[in-house]
Amino acid sequence: MEGKVVFNKRLNGKYYYMKVENRDFVRKCKPGQFFMLKTQVYDYVVDPLLRRPFGICDVDEDGFTLLYLLVGKGTSLLANIEEGTLIKFSEPLGNGFKLVADSKVALVGGGVGIAPLLYLAKELKKKNNEITLFYGGKSKDDIHLIDEFKKFCDEIKISTEDGTLGQKGRVTALLDKTASFDKVYCCGPKPMMKATVDFALENEIDIEVSLDEKMACGIGACLGCIIYIKEKNGIVQKRCCVEGPVFDGTKIAW
Ligand code: FES
Repeated sequence: MEGKVVFNKRLNGKYYYMKVENRDFVRKCKPGQFFMLKTQVYDYVVDPLLRRPFGICDVDEDGFTLLYLLVGKGTSLLANIEEGTLIKFSEPLGNGFKLVADSKVALVGGGVGIAPLLYLAKELKKKNNEITLFYGGKSKDDIHLIDEFKKFCDEIKISTEDGTLGQKGRVTALLDKTASFDKVYCCGPKPMMKATVDFALENEIDIEVSLDEKMACGIGACLGCIIYIKEKNGIVQKRCCVEGPVFDGTKIAW
């Protein structure tokens, strides 16, 4: 697929936010899915060779957005792409979140892991859920898109490790044991996801987590994204890109 970049703007810190036009993509995608994006605009540039995976952050009728962090060559190329440029990407990939209705849900996101939770919040609101967002980062430069989240979340709780925004400390310290959530959705750094799964297990709440594994192909062919899942007969391998990236958090063998 291909689409025109509508905007590609720098937010605080090393975060960027891009919108790409493609109505066909929007018709096919669902919250929690991802896509593989070619970060170089010109075909004669072969480095980096591989496309990069990005979660779908938000959609409207004519396009989708991605939130990304400047971490290396691929994302540096991406950051330099100008408005109006045509870029290439895959169809929506992976399984996506299972959406509940008429429930009390917690979204727990950390750093750039917040990205898939915005589109999720939008779709969960359409299904009459009461949504609390728990959003953590190292500092205020890791906290973004709050005005967008406000449109869909009933409550937003923020924490930063250095105390520059919200409560000082880890986001998992904000999880309210008395809030009796029906479902938790989580995406972020592994220690945060593990701590959130522990919270869900202690309180007997369903939890889905979106894993952010390194992916080379995105279509199940390279086996570079294997993760381990507990099943009745023992631990089995799953491909994060095809069977995931969203899994039952209680089944992950971390
Ligand atoms: Fe190649 Fe998952 S990224 S199998």
